[in-house]
Formats: sequence, structure tokens, C-alpha cells
Amino acid sequence: MIIGVPKEIKNNENRVALTPSGAFELTKRGHKVYVQATAGIGSGFPDQEYKDAGAKILKTIEKVYDIAEMIMKVKEPIEPEYKLIKKDQLVFTYFHFASHEPLTKAMIKSKSVCLAYETVESADRKLPLLIPMSEVAGRMSIQQGARYLEKPVKGRGVLLGGVPGVPPGKVLVLGGGIVGTQAAKMAAGLGAQVTILDVNLNRLRELCDIMPANVTTQYSNEYNIRKLIKTHDLIVGAVLIPGAKAPNLVTRDMLKEMRAGTVVVDVAVDQGGCIETCKPTTHENPTFIIDDVVHYCVANMPGAVPYTSTIALTNATLPYAIKLANNGWKKACKTDASLKKGLNVIKGKVCYQGVADAFDLKMHDVDSLLK
Ligand SMILES: NC(=O)c1ccc[n+]([C@@H]2O[C@H](COP(=O)([O-])OP(=O)(O)OC[C@H]3O[C@@H](n4cnc5c(N)ncnc54)[C@H](O)[C@@H]3O)[C@@H](O)[C@H]2O)c1
Repeated sequence: MIIGVPKEIKNNENRVALTPSGAFELTKRGHKVYVQATAGIGSGFPDQEYKDAGAKILKTIEKVYDIAEMIMKVKEPIEPEYKLIKKDQLVFTYFHFASHEPLTKAMIKSKSVCLAYETVESADRKLPLLIPMSEVAGRMSIQQGARYLEKPVKGRGVLLGGVPGVPPGKVLVLGGGIVGTQAAKMAAGLGAQVTILDVNLNRLRELCDIMPANVTTQYSNEYNIRKLIKTHDLIVGAVLIPGAKAPNLVTRDMLKEMRAGTVVVDVAVDQGGCIETCKPTTHENPTFIIDDVVHYCVANMPGAVPYTSTIALTNATLPYAIKLANNGWKKACKTDASLKKGLNVIKGKVCYQGVADAFDLKMHDVDSLLK
């Protein structure tokens, strides 16, 4: 198969869909990989590394789209890319269709095959191509939180690990899923005292078993949250209710009960946030302050660490990409139920219920489109 890897053109997006090692794995199986010049540079991969791995470099984005049977991307196509996508071309990337009507309409019009990273789903209902980004964001939440606890950026002036003779800082993690677990591990590793809240008792049991002694768990309810926010220095929002807006666990009135310089990092901001006062921010302007509480609410946290994020993402996408390249998208999706769940739009027909529902479009049975 001919695989094209364009350079991402969305503002401040430095990730790339394939590493040189991914290109190597594909070319060694007889596939042709075309990478747009400088596509990997933002993630630390120069063109020469792709060439050494057997890929060819193309100068322009038009040439990449023109030659490829499968396009591998990171972000959803943006307007200038719509016209480059061809009939029957397979596009394997994050789409997040349900929140973007113009993109959905454009992809229907293109008659391409859209396989969305975010809806590839394993038998145990996990989302294997979203997990790596949650892992990055969870770990980053502590790195960022620790930084904004510093006094010059209006934090409490607390060092999370403390020092001999001074107690460590306290970190409250709301939600003990992927993001919350990674956040708790990082905070615990720094020596902080960590409390994880969740509504899933089985999850709390698992966390209790695997976490070090400086991590404790509590059931998530308003009473406990009101009590804990008064004494914790850093609060990480990491809840998710699939398919719904995140619940407001920390409400506007609760800010007054926190100490000045407390930092909230609301990782769940992309689902509306679990801290009522959080609004999406950017890496250029990551924080704002309300009632002396520092809010960090960057919606695409992994974008700040493209080297790590690119490798983490491609570790997860590559096995699927190889399957698609070896078998073609139809056979690959027929034989792999996880990949089949990733199909959102096939040659102008919507085949993912969430997308059809979002814009009142006709839903087509995916199996009949795979015949
Ligand atoms: N900002 C970013 O850059 C970024 C990056 C990756 C993920 N995210 C977001 O982070 C959030 C968490 O993702 P995840 O992968 O950890 O999800 P997950 O499903 O693994 O974990 C969510 C956890 O929240 C718990 N939960 C649900 N309701 C709760 C409540 N009322 N109180 C406490 N816990 C509750 C669930 O039981 C679950 O354990 C999602 O909104 C995701 O989109 C954001």
C-alpha cells in the first residue's frame, strides 16, 4: 500500500503520525511510505531519519495527498486540507466528528474512508488510541501543577516533595482512571501526599493495591470534596463520564474555601471540565486566576511534548496501520472488530451512531458497507 504522512498544519501542532521506526516497519513489509518534508521536525525527527528508514520525502502536502492510498495524520483535517482528500482514500487520524459539523460534511462530500483513532475500541471497551494521550496528559498535569505552585506565577509557594523537616505538598486527584492514575503516580514519585477520589469502588480497590503508601483513596462525593479542597495544594480534574459533559465536582462557591495560590489543573476541560470555573486555555496562555486560585486548563496538553506524544501515539497506532496496509481497509476491518469500530464515514455514508445522531444524518449499517 502507498502511505502518505503529511505535515500537520493546525496551529501549534508539532506531532507527526509516523516515526522513522514506524516508517521502517511499513517499508520492510513492502509498503511505500511518503513523508512530507519537515513533517517530523517538530517531534525531533529530521527528514534524513525517514529516508534511512526507507521512506521517500515529498516537498509539498499536495503531492503527499495525491499519491497516497492511506493518509496517516494526528489532528482532524482542517479546512485547507478538505480539498486534498480524494475519493476512496483511507484517512486514519483523530476526527472527533461529533463536535464538528463542517468537517463531517466535508468528509462525506470527499467520498473518502474515515477511520477515527478515537473510536477504535477493544473488546473490553477501552479506547487504545486515546489511552496514550491520557497517559501523557496525566503525567504532565503534575509537572505543570508543580510549576504553577511557585510563588512568581501566583502559586502557594509549595514544593510538592517538601524537604527534610518540611512536610510535602498535597495533591487531590478527582477521578482514578488513566489520567488520574498517571497523575497520582507522578505526584507520589515526587514525594507529595496524594488523595485519589473516584465513584467506582472497584477502581479504588485496584488503586489501593498498586499505589505506594503516600497515596490514599476516598469515595468521591460533595462532602469529601468540600473537606479536601481546603487542605490540598494541587487539584487535578481527571473525571470522565463517557459520552457526557464532565460533572462540576468543584463548584464556583467552593473556590472561596481554598487557600490562596491553590492550583487546579483541569485535564477534563476537553469534556467541559470538572471544575466549574475552568475554561479552555492554550499553551501560549495556559492559566488564569479566579478568587486567588490558579486555573490551568489547556485542552491539548500532549501538544506541548511532541517528542513523547508522537512516539506514544505511534506505538499504539502502528499495529493497526500495519494491518490496514497489509490487508486493505475492508479486510482489515472485517477481521478486526476494534478497527471496525473506528469506521465513521465510508465513501459518503455515515456508519458511526454518535456522528449520525449529532447531525441528524442517515446511519448506515457498517457491515453492509464492508461487503
Ligand atoms: N486536556 C488534555 O489535553 C487531555 C488529554 C487526554 C485526556 N483528557 C481528558 O481527561 C479526562 C479523563 O480521561 P481518562 O482517560 O482518565 O478517563 P477514564 O475513563 O480512564 O477515567 C475517568 C475516571 O473518572 C471516574 N469518575 C466518573 N465520575 C466521577 C466522579 N463524580 N468523581 C470522581 N471520579 C469520577 C471514573 O470512574 C473513571 O475512573 C477525559 O475528559 C479526557 O478527555 C484531556
